[in-house]
Amino acid sequence: MDHFTYEAGELRCEGVPAEAIAAAAGTPTYVYSRATLEGHLARIAAAFAPVDPLICYSVKSCGNLAVCRTLAARGAGMDVVSGGELFRALRAGCPPERIVYAGVGKRDDEIAQALEAGIGLLNVESEPEFENIARIARALGRTCRCALRVNPDVDPRTHRFTTTGTKETKFGVDIERAHAFFRTYGRDAHARLVGLHLHIGSPVYDTAPYVESVGKALALRDALAREGFAVEVLDVGGGFAADYETGRSPSAADYARAIVPLIEPAVRSGLRIVLEPGRSIAANAGILLTRVQYVKRSGDKTFVICDAGMNTLLRPSHYDAFHFIWPVRPGAGHVPPARTREPAMAGLVPQDVVGPICETGDFLALDRAMPPVERGDLLAVFTAGAYGMSMASRYNSVPLPAEVMVDGDAFRVVRRRESLEDLVAHEP
Ligand code: LLP
Repeated sequence: MDHFTYEAGELRCEGVPAEAIAAAAGTPTYVYSRATLEGHLARIAAAFAPVDPLICYSVKSCGNLAVCRTLAARGAGMDVVSGGELFRALRAGCPPERIVYAGVGKRDDEIAQALEAGIGLLNVESEPEFENIARIARALGRTCRCALRVNPDVDPRTHRFTTTGTKETKFGVDIERAHAFFRTYGRDAHARLVGLHLHIGSPVYDTAPYVESVGKALALRDALAREGFAVEVLDVGGGFAADYETGRSPSAADYARAIVPLIEPAVRSGLRIVLEPGRSIAANAGILLTRVQYVKRSGDKTFVICDAGMNTLLRPSHYDAFHFIWPVRPGAGHVPPARTREPAMAGLVPQDVVGPICETGDFLALDRAMPPVERGDLLAVFTAGAYGMSMASRYNSVPLPAEVMVDGDAFRVVRRRESLEDLVAHEP
């Protein structure tokens, strides 16, 4: 569900025509819908209300301050993975106690930054990392709450680049090692081991892997309790899918129906739940607007060459990810009824939607059935709010795009397009 819809033959973002945004802000531009962001957060909160979780928005999915501010103002916490994301979360007004910090390679300065800020939970991914956190906390005279990220050896059945909960990934500690971990470190006075953390991968299109991994974590919690270690927090991680294709993904209510009954008894006996959704909040809350520069035929192929490419949105070339792409003004008979790979409609032609970057792998879609387009047409790349701008690069020295936030009938630039001077600003 989102607020990007075709009305009277053209795409509108809430109450604003997409063309008006492109005319004012140029292209390529990421456009976010405030109502969609808030709606997604509210739906997750409502679905999981019986276990009253702390919902920590995963800043890596889209760290724009306006996005983070919108969510923090609605009570979200933040899941961060670097000193930079911690800085963003705090700058966006997120109270430190609502911040959780994961990541396999936290540097000493980042750990100190987190301790000084007084964040809610440090998710620890290895024995040497725990020892380092405890050492730095002692030196600073600070205490912090930590959760052990356990690797439950569950296959989330998603792309291998974003599978994290199987054995032999770099993330977390094998669940069998958790007992030894608590015995060795569970009594540290500065780094207090109070929780367990899971994150099995993303996007996870099925609820079963959550059921399996949460089940394992709860069994571990019981076993640890028998040894005298109290696990007060279970962080279930993120990975809930977004609607890349209409109707293909479980909803927040579907995930909750599978997970809530499992954890409810433990919550009644005092367990606190944390969720770390990123894409299920941000993905459908953003589109990427790109202008067709040229249409070119090579052999049997038609290439639609746009001003956005792998530098702007990496997901298609990096993960073979599907993003629905459609003209902002598709012409009569071509308003899409749904976002699907093969829209059932006459007059579509297969086209490769590519960018300006000097790589054959620079594409947004291959052999995509779309209405014929021309130079100057504006295209919308849907479900681009998560891992779009946050993974954009300046490859080929193309300045980073602008970001716009729409709120009802109004919109504003929330990150200005980079200039050529910006490109060299750090180079004396
Ligand atoms: N928590 C942890 C510990 C994570 O590592 C991640 C994502 C999340 C939460 C949020 O997952 P989400 O709810 O957004 O799926 N660049 C890839 C996704 C990489 C995700 C990395 N970790 C993509 O574009 O699909």
